Amino acid sequence: MAKTAKLEIDGKIYELPVVIGSEGEHAVDVSKLRADTGYITLDDGYGNTGSCVSNVTFIDGEKGILRYRGYPIEELAEKSTFIETAFLIIYGHLPTSAELRRFSDLLTQNELLHEGMKFHFEGFPPNAHPMAILSSMINAASCYHPRLMEGYNPSHFDLQAARLISKVRTIAAFAYRKSRGLPINYPKPVYKYTANLLHMMFSEPYQDYDLKPEVVRALDLIFLLHADHEQNCSTSTVRMIASSRANLFACAAGGVCALWGPLHGGANQAVIEMLEEIHKEGDDGSKFIVAAKDKKSGRRLMGFGHRVYKNYDPRAKIIKEQCDKILNSLHITDPLLDIAKRLEDAALHDPYFIERKLYPNVDFYSGIIMRAIGIPVEMFTVIFAIGRMPGWIANYKEIMDEKTSRIYRPRQIYTGATERKYLPIEQRTGA
Ligand code: SDX
Repeated sequence: MAKTAKLEIDGKIYELPVVIGSEGEHAVDVSKLRADTGYITLDDGYGNTGSCVSNVTFIDGEKGILRYRGYPIEELAEKSTFIETAFLIIYGHLPTSAELRRFSDLLTQNELLHEGMKFHFEGFPPNAHPMAILSSMINAASCYHPRLMEGYNPSHFDLQAARLISKVRTIAAFAYRKSRGLPINYPKPVYKYTANLLHMMFSEPYQDYDLKPEVVRALDLIFLLHADHEQNCSTSTVRMIASSRANLFACAAGGVCALWGPLHGGANQAVIEMLEEIHKEGDDGSKFIVAAKDKKSGRRLMGFGHRVYKNYDPRAKIIKEQCDKILNSLHITDPLLDIAKRLEDAALHDPYFIERKLYPNVDFYSGIIMRAIGIPVEMFTVIFAIGRMPGWIANYKEIMDEKTSRIYRPRQIYTGATERKYLPIEQRTGA
């Protein structure tokens, strides 16, 4: 017997279907609510609203569980790579060696940008934010592949997905080099995905970048840990754009813009800027914690809190462990890591954060690793975007493969002026 929920409106009882997910999550299906009752639901920030059913990623925020296609993030972090995990997220299963080789070859064959793209880079001012460059260059790249603009064609999907994953990495590296007035480095087919990004960013005409395995592994892990995260702000944006049947590159460009915000992917840049400010002021973190608890200060403990996790973000746990490893292996001591650890310890013992279940999230420690690698803070959210591409692509594919999926078009409750007459300008008194 299917489960239902009862709703009483104006003395009438309505039975609404209940949808139960494979992990036991329950939702009241309100898709017929307005037709049956004339009412809609209202949910500021969508904290209680499911926009879709999805098979890609499962999060249990209370228990701090994250799984990509059923595989725990801890196991993938330990045993997998970013590109293998990207395949898993997009296609739903761990690849065979033949599938992985074909996917990897597709990425290599599509790592170059059309030479015409170089002129676009020239047009950006030196201080252009790389997220602005990334979002515009993703759309620019699609113009060189007209078939991409034809919308969704399952027989073209593999190539489109590989092109996007491979080219965003090249765009990011070129943007970095241009911002520093340095000559661009072309990708080397001999290098795998993450090593190639490091090469394109940091090799110089006089010497190739020294690809330390522990550095490549640390950045690859950062990408893997960011690869998907169910219906976060940027992924929901990608689905919103995909629902109109726009092409994959247009969806990804929109995802980049949503991710840029400091409450979302931009938090990794905001965390380092916060730690640097605390360090510069000689604060041991305690003054900042006081400000972060005071709404009037306009400050927040960046990298803390999460809409879904009301427990420690499992990704933050893994990244925190990696911080010590990478700093030790590179013989770096970073005072910002000590400040971050002190902030975490103070916050986790402070009633304000405990009552609100505010814990470190994926952005709290990731910047420490990127700093140790030599990635500048303005590139941090670009690194996040590169990591998140597989999740955006998988969510795009879910919508496109779902023949009955409809355009996303939420309702609203209007609270503005009721009907009024147009006044000639000479009779107007303002407001
Ligand atoms: C990401 O959704 C995803 O999955 C995102 C992500 C992904 O992988 O895609 O996980 C990546 O975006 C991680 C989050 C990165 N953002 C930050 O670190 C910015 C700092 N954190 C926040 O601003 C906040 O915690 C959010 C945006 C992450 C969540 O915001 P919510 O769910 O809307 O929570 P809220 O703003 O309603 O806060 C609830 C209470 C409020 O206090 P009260 O009104 O109850 O008194 O907690 C307070 C907030 O003021 N609060 C904080 C705080 N975060 C929430 N107070 C101080 N410092 C903070 N960081």
